[in-house]
Amino acid sequence: MKKSIIILTMLTAVLTFAACGGSGPAEEPAAEPEPVTPLTAEELQQVQVLVEDNICAECHGANLEGTETGPALINVGQYWTESKLEKYIYNPEFFMVSHPEIRRRNPGFEVDMPPYTDMPEEDRRLLARWVLLQGE
Ligand code: HEC
Repeated sequence: MKKSIIILTMLTAVLTFAACGGSGPAEEPAAEPEPVTPLTAEELQQVQVLVEDNICAECHGANLEGTETGPALINVGQYWTESKLEKYIYNPEFFMVSHPEIRRRNPGFEVDMPPYTDMPEEDRRLLARWVLLQGE
């Protein structure tokens, strides 16, 4: 009895989260890529500080070419929208519960990407736009 309540609670959490994700059934790549607003020079500078402070390049490489601890981030924009990516950066492990395809296309990493729950949404959106524009 107790067990089924726990399972039900977990299921509800997953479903609620999937609904918030707003992307409907997992389909990749996104059918119609959204246009991304290019970064201004000032925003690009902000991104560089964010990438430095949050050690993104330590795992994803100085040119986002990927390392042993993180995949390349070139041309991943096809799988994402700004709002999905912003939520992913907030808590990757949790996001991947409802989007297992992310782990499937990035197999073999022992440690998941860390959460950035302390990062303001504005900064996460900026990073998201920056990732979306890579490789275009
Ligand atoms: C400790 C290493 C590490 C750090 C630091 C890190 N990541 Fe990641 N990242 C990963 C791994 C590993 C994955 C693959 C998914 C997984 O297993 O968590 C990933 C996946 C991603 C993806 C999705 C790739 C795809 O296939 O769609 C994006 C985008 C991303 N990271 C951006 C960032 C940004 C931006 C930062 C800095 C704020 C960052 N990462 C910091 C390890 C890291």
